[in-house]
Amino acid sequence: MRIDIITVLPDLLRSPFEGSIMKRAIQKGLVEVHFHNLRDYSTNKHKNVDDYQFGGGAGMVMMVEPIDLCISKLKSERNYDEVIYMTPDGETLHQKMANSMSMLKNIIILCGHYKGVDQRVRDMHITKEISIGDYVLSGGEIGAIVFCDALIRLIPGVLSDETSALTDSFQDNLLSHPIYTRPAQYKGLKVPDILLSGNFPEIEKWREQKAYEHTKERRPDLLEE
Ligand code: ADE
Repeated sequence: MRIDIITVLPDLLRSPFEGSIMKRAIQKGLVEVHFHNLRDYSTNKHKNVDDYQFGGGAGMVMMVEPIDLCISKLKSERNYDEVIYMTPDGETLHQKMANSMSMLKNIIILCGHYKGVDQRVRDMHITKEISIGDYVLSGGEIGAIVFCDALIRLIPGVLSDETSALTDSFQDNLLSHPIYTRPAQYKGLKVPDILLSGNFPEIEKWREQKAYEHTKERRPDLLEE
């Protein structure tokens, strides 16, 4: 998968891709991430990419031209499956969206800033709008990092234990069951006997039951879906 991220803050974006799972995915050649500084596409001498709103109102708006130039250049080089805009009024990110988008080949992610982008950018280029939750961030960059992390770990071959992404919370609309590692007893707190029994069918049943109970208690809405 190739991900092209358009941003006014490329330096803010870089470090999450230089550690842990995302770094490994890049090193294994399973994903390529390219950052594009929107200011490089500004057509004025101050390298501005924002301007006042027509009609008045607080907050600057990201101008159509630099974004159009950047996206058009990328599109002239290859085909993109989606051109995504990170915005609080987009579709809220969820696991099933991450699952299906992890299969795509080339995507562009546009990070909004200030009040957002000129509507004409959305009309011309954007094929999907994604929010990471019902709150407003100061820019789309952190949303883009969240989205990329959720996506990249699902690409086959990225996680060493292939089944581990499948047993994550939210796969199958269930939260995860409790998990334990050594020691079997710590400050009087014991690991449930069933997990030490070696009876794997019974362990699987126990895990399913616990996942169900945990979901029912915390997120009953998931069980209704
Ligand atoms: N930009 C600002 N707020 C955002 C949010 N909640 N999700 C995605 N992008 C954003």
